[in-house]
Amino acid sequence: MIPILVLHGPNLNLLGNREPDIYGHLSLDDINQRLIELGTSIGLKVECKQSNHEGELIDTLQQADQWTKGIVFNPAGYTHTSVALRDAIATINVPVVEVHLSNTQAREEFRHRSLIAPVCMGTITGFGWYSYALALYALANICGQQAS
Ligand code: DQA
Repeated sequence: MIPILVLHGPNLNLLGNREPDIYGHLSLDDINQRLIELGTSIGLKVECKQSNHEGELIDTLQQADQWTKGIVFNPAGYTHTSVALRDAIATINVPVVEVHLSNTQAREEFRHRSLIAPVCMGTITGFGWYSYALALYALANICGQQAS
């Protein structure tokens, strides 16, 4: 099984109650459970973490470089502001896929710019929890290619 980190940024702990018209009715635990099950079915051992704190997200990314083969990251509000998170991703060696539940391009203008996207392998937005699922498929594909 290939170890993968799914990392959720600020306010995503409130999913289910937080602006459900935009982010859906699933809780973070519901989403994590689905991702762990999907991961198992495609050969990934998925570990999920969430933090509301920029420094803690950076620590987690740096540590994950030692034990994961890939990271699915929803930086949430930090997507649009954090040079420090971008630098952390640029520094580590494992591939990072940026994901968003909502289609950030269809929302307010300040959400159109991601500081994170240029240092990620790719970005998946707008498919609700399935954005994360698509990112897992992408990482399974990348890691499978590396193994062969
Ligand atoms: C989000 C989009 C961000 O703009 C927002 O700040 C979030 C969630 C998403 O998953 O759609 O917190 O990352």
